[in-house]
Amino acid sequence: MSGLLESLAFFRDPDFARSRFERHGDVFETTLLGHRTVFIRGAQAMNDLFAQAEAVQGWWPDSVRELLGPLSLANRNGADHKARRRVVGQLFASAALKRYSPAIVALVEELRLAMLGSERPVALVPMLRRFAFSVIASTVLGLDPVDREALFLDFEIWCQGLFSFRLALPGSRFARARRARGRLLRRLGAVLARAQAAAAAGQPLAAGGLDLLAGGLDEAGLPLGDDDVAEQLLLLLFAGYETTASSLSCLLLTLLQHPTELAWLQEELDTLVWPPAEGQAVTAYDALRAPRLDAVVKEVMRLTPPVGGFFRRTRQAISLAGVRVPADRVVQVSLAAIHRYGSRSEDLELFRPQRHLSGDTTATLLPFGGGERVCLGKALAELEIRLLAVGLLRQLTLVLEPDQDLSLAIIPSPSPKDGLLVRARHRANTSDRTAASA
Ligand code: HEM
Repeated sequence: MSGLLESLAFFRDPDFARSRFERHGDVFETTLLGHRTVFIRGAQAMNDLFAQAEAVQGWWPDSVRELLGPLSLANRNGADHKARRRVVGQLFASAALKRYSPAIVALVEELRLAMLGSERPVALVPMLRRFAFSVIASTVLGLDPVDREALFLDFEIWCQGLFSFRLALPGSRFARARRARGRLLRRLGAVLARAQAAAAAGQPLAAGGLDLLAGGLDEAGLPLGDDDVAEQLLLLLFAGYETTASSLSCLLLTLLQHPTELAWLQEELDTLVWPPAEGQAVTAYDALRAPRLDAVVKEVMRLTPPVGGFFRRTRQAISLAGVRVPADRVVQVSLAAIHRYGSRSEDLELFRPQRHLSGDTTATLLPFGGGERVCLGKALAELEIRLLAVGLLRQLTLVLEPDQDLSLAIIPSPSPKDGLLVRARHRANTSDRTAASA
C-alpha cells in the first residue's frame, strides 16, 4: 500500500487513532509519510482550527496537489482562494439549484425506470456513479453526451492517479493520469469557450450553469483566465462525483440493512408528493418538510462519511484545544473518528437516525467540513441525495440479492464491494392504498 493509501486508511479507520487519542488526549503528534503530523478530534479542537484560518493553509499529498493543478482553488489560500470560491459558488446558489432541479428529477426517474425494467438483479453502485456524474457533468456544467462520455473515460484514469504513487514513469498510473489531466483541461476549455460565445451572442445556453460564471473576478478585480476557470471545473468534477456517489450507495445499503428504520422513513415519504411541484424541488424534501429523511441522511454520513477527512498545514504556531501546535505541521482531521466520538454513554457505533431528531447527540457532525473551506457543493449534494431518496424509496421496494459482499471498499470513498446488487419492484405506498380502498 502506498503511503497515500495508508494515510487515507487512517482517515477511514476510526480505530487507528482511537487508542492514541485515549492515551494522549484530543491532539497528538506523530510522523506520517515523512511529515510531522498532528491528529485532532473533538469539538473544541475543530472549532479552534476553523477559527484560526489565517494561521493555516490547505494541504494535499503531492499526487493530489499536482493532479488538481496549481490554479485549483483547492491548492490556493487567502484572497486567491476566497475570490475563486465566490466565482464558483455561483453555480450552487439557490437560484442555480432551482434551475438544475427538473433535470435531476428526470435523472432520478430514468434511474427508477431502468431498475424496474431489469429482469435480473441490478448493481446499484455503477448506476449511482453514472447518476452522480451526470448531475455534475450534464446538469451543472451542461455537457452534451459526446463531451460527457469522453470526459468520463479520461476522468476515471485521472482519478486512479490521484490515489497512487507520484511516480511519473512511462505507463505508470500517475503518468497516465497526468496525460488525462491535459486532455480533460483542453476539453473543459473548449466547453467553456462555447458557453462564452453563446453568452456573448445573447443566445441562451441549452443546459447547465456555466453562464453564471461569466464576469467572475479574481482577487484583484480582474476576470479569471480561461485556464483558471477550466481548472476549477476539473475540481468540481472530482469533488462532486465520487463523494455524492458514495453517499447515495451507503444510504441505500444502510437502509436495506435496517428494515425497521426504512419502514419508519417510508411512513414519512408516503406523506410527500413525488415528483415535486414545479419550482418546489429545492425545498419540498428539506429538513423542515422531511425531518426523518434529514435524520437518516445525517446518520448515514456520520457513520460512513464520503470524505474520510482532510488536512491543513500550519503556517505559524497555533493552539488547538489548549495544545500548542508548532508551525509547519500537517494537521490531519479524521471525520470518521470525530463522528464516533462523544459521551461514553451514547451508542455512537449504532445506526440510530432518531438521535438527530431528539437533538441529544453528543457527536460533532462535520461531513462537509467547516470554516473557510467548507464544501462548496453542499447544497447541491443534499438536493441530489434527497431527490434520489424520495424518488426511489417512495416508489420502489428494493430487495438485496443474497450471497454478495456488502462490506465497504473504503478508498477513495466508501462503496459496497460487490456493487450493491438488488431486485426492484413497484411499491404500493400508503396514498396508493388509500386511493385503492376508497
Ligand atoms: C455528499 C457529498 C459531499 C461531501 C460529503 C463533501 C465533503 C467535502 C468536504 C469535507 C470538504 C472540505 C475539504 C477541506 O476542508 O479541505 C469539501 C470541499 C469541497 N467540496 Fe465537497 N462534498 C460533497 C459534494 C460536493 C459536490 C457535489 C461538490 C460540487 C459539485 C463539491 C465541491 C467541493 C469543493 C469545490 C470543495 C473545496 C472547497 C475549498 O477548498 O474551499 N462537493 N467537500
